[in-house]
Amino acid sequence: MKLLEVAGLNVFYGDLQALFEIGVSVEAGQTVALIGANGAGKTTFLKSVAGLIASKRGSITFDGQQVGGLPAEQIAQLGMALVPEGRLLFQNMTIEENLIMGGYTGRTGYWTLPKVYELFPTIANRGREMPFVLSGGEQQMVAIGRALMANPRLLLADEISQGLAPVVVDQIYKSFPAIRAEGTSIIIVEQEVKRAAAASDYTYCLLKGRVTLEGRSKALSFDALSHAYFGT
Ligand SMILES: Nc1ncnc2c1ncn2[C@@H]1O[C@H](COP(=O)(O)OP(=O)(O)O)[C@@H](O)[C@H]1O
Ligand SMILES: [Mg+2]
Repeated sequence: MKLLEVAGLNVFYGDLQALFEIGVSVEAGQTVALIGANGAGKTTFLKSVAGLIASKRGSITFDGQQVGGLPAEQIAQLGMALVPEGRLLFQNMTIEENLIMGGYTGRTGYWTLPKVYELFPTIANRGREMPFVLSGGEQQMVAIGRALMANPRLLLADEISQGLAPVVVDQIYKSFPAIRAEGTSIIIVEQEVKRAAAASDYTYCLLKGRVTLEGRSKALSFDALSHAYFGT
């Protein structure tokens, strides 16, 4: 079953067109990677799908329903959660308050505070601390945990590796199977091509707002991916 189907998506910032005729689909239970250099349009894509950018044309179907015209809150209610680029934790709230905020949609399911702490033991028992005391990796865990608290059907993870040491990134990627096991599909936005391919079932490569390559992650050669990535 298709959980997300995006077709002919064009997105604009005023006169600037950032995305051109994008087609992306995510099957239920799949992890899809979206790769591309800085400025390729990855964040714009995730934000458009999540309802955070209004200036767009095309079709976005989520769980069989057209959501292209809906505001972000309604899309979140339907089960889509964004882990934003740069984490964007609420700096004036404790870690626990950040996590609880993620549950604002009222969607219930497997993910609760104890389950998030079980997934990321490093942040368990630190609920009363403020985000700034955490390492970058721990902050990323809070950002992912906050999104999971909404019990999403689709998790949109924007550049979760950014600025983190490889060993910490490994630790975060290791949480994905547990997230999928609870029935959540994932779109990961990554700049690191090899990691994205290894962690996903299907890969799309974006270049200057267009999909330049797509295919089953295992079937894409590193050469083909780097050509599509750099446009060489
Ligand atoms: N708020 C904005 N206003 C105008 N242009 C933007 C805005 N955000 C992004 N862009 C432009 O849209 C294009 C895609 O950006 P973005 O989606 O952030 O790329 P990526 O996430 O792949 O690095 C870039 O050319 C960028 O400069
Ligand atoms: Mg981005």
